[in-house]
Amino acid sequence: MIAGKTYNAKLQLFYANIVEKISDRLFLLYRYYLALTTVALRVSSRTRITLPKGQFESYSFFNLEGFTIFAAQMRNFYININAIMKKITDDVIYIGVDDLDIDLFESQYKVPQGISYNSYLILDEKVAILDTADARKGEEWEENLSKALGERQPDFLVVHHLEPDHSSMIAKILEKYPKIQVVTGVRSVKMLSQFFEMPDIATRCMEMKEGDLLDLGKHKLRFYAAPMVHWPEVMVSFDEFDGALYSADAFGKFGALSKFGFYSSEDSDWSEEARRYYINIVGKYGGPVQALLKKASVLPIKSIRSLHGPIINENLEKYIKLYDTWSRCLPESKGIMIAVASIYGGTMEAAEKLKELLESKGAENVFIRDLCRTDVSRNVSDAFRYEKLVLAASSYDNGLFTPMHSFIHILQMKCFMGRTIGLIENGSWAPSAARVMNEMLCQLTNVTIVEPTVTIRSRMKSTDYPALERLADALL
Ligand SMILES: Cc1cc2nc3c(=O)[nH]c(=O)nc-3n(C[C@H](O)[C@H](O)[C@H](O)COP(=O)(O)O)c2cc1C
Ligand SMILES: [Fe+2]
Ligand SMILES: [Fe+2]
Repeated sequence: MIAGKTYNAKLQLFYANIVEKISDRLFLLYRYYLALTTVALRVSSRTRITLPKGQFESYSFFNLEGFTIFAAQMRNFYININAIMKKITDDVIYIGVDDLDIDLFESQYKVPQGISYNSYLILDEKVAILDTADARKGEEWEENLSKALGERQPDFLVVHHLEPDHSSMIAKILEKYPKIQVVTGVRSVKMLSQFFEMPDIATRCMEMKEGDLLDLGKHKLRFYAAPMVHWPEVMVSFDEFDGALYSADAFGKFGALSKFGFYSSEDSDWSEEARRYYINIVGKYGGPVQALLKKASVLPIKSIRSLHGPIINENLEKYIKLYDTWSRCLPESKGIMIAVASIYGGTMEAAEKLKELLESKGAENVFIRDLCRTDVSRNVSDAFRYEKLVLAASSYDNGLFTPMHSFIHILQMKCFMGRTIGLIENGSWAPSAARVMNEMLCQLTNVTIVEPTVTIRSRMKSTDYPALERLADALL
């Protein structure tokens, strides 16, 4: 019986691996297929598509029934494509899902390469599901879970973080497996009933406190609180058997695994999207991240398994060092970012002149970012990344042009600190941009605004060069 189960599980894993390997290609083919059928539809209104018997019905695109069948078949196919399932170790299976069709993560961050909702299944003497997924990909996740479970029943559902991108399937799992217990932190138990209308939900929870252990057999998960990384109820767990740190959102990253790789070693540019994720999503909470890093520093960690992005199995120090830099709000790279919010281009001209002057004086890696036309989350994370920042903006309704206002507002929210900043303003009758920028920047910790603040009147003229040159000198 056991051998049968193992064989069955192995077969399913084998199948899942094959699906995973060919899914990208299938998806491409599927896209070509859709494009072709669209063309066909335009060419002839009597187009009939016949697909292999047994799997697909023969139908016309022009009756509702036919189209519904087609849509359902394509949806199933799509579910299989998104459902990555991978064996991490002998008894740990990745059952997370990629989300490649999300428009905005957390309703504000562009994720052109998607995002992954990571989740794991530990098949030991006891069986534990580690986190669920966003409801957007709930079906795919459930499909993965049941394939990975095979004949077994789950004993525990570990909830490291209650944010809906990881917890949306909790109620469904509690209904499906009446004996399963939710293993989560004390604060999380209190919050669960806010998310799910299940009167008995708290009675089905095992409350974990700092240092508590969940014994699964070989695998032993030790829990540590990580409040505000990035919600108050967050706990991470460390598997004392295989050295895996289940780090909740810490060490997370934008980007689907099918796009960037399953392991960080396959992802040559991990820091770019991990930085954008960290600064914008967890960045405000540098102190709590430092506290977590301190706890983690005494653990013999061999693998970091975040709730988003690839598994980190190699060069752990490199990733931990980046997290240390980011959470202490230290600059990571040499360079000067000139952030510009210009209505008609006059302020932009002045910014370009400043760049030219800085480069002629030997400054390295000077670059301009048009705040009106580029992704704000990347601009914010680059402001944190580089050593120095220049803010150049038009005056606007006796205040500050709005793209700059929102940019500085986000910097305030994310506790931007400890930087040198230069200012350029532009105004046609009563320049007001620098006053507002100063007021906003004064609220930041340990920020130095260099002299002079350059004021341009409508368009830059040669008489403005000396002031721009003095600003360049002050920034070097
Ligand atoms: C809607 C609007 C509101 C403005 N408000 C002010 C203002 O309060 N004070 C001021 O001196 N100029 C104001 N201006 C003028 C611009 O700041 C000025 O034209 C500046 O040169 C624009 O720089 P730019 O060419 O980089 O857009 C306003 C312009 C617009 C379009
Ligand atoms: Fe989160
Ligand atoms: Fe998350």
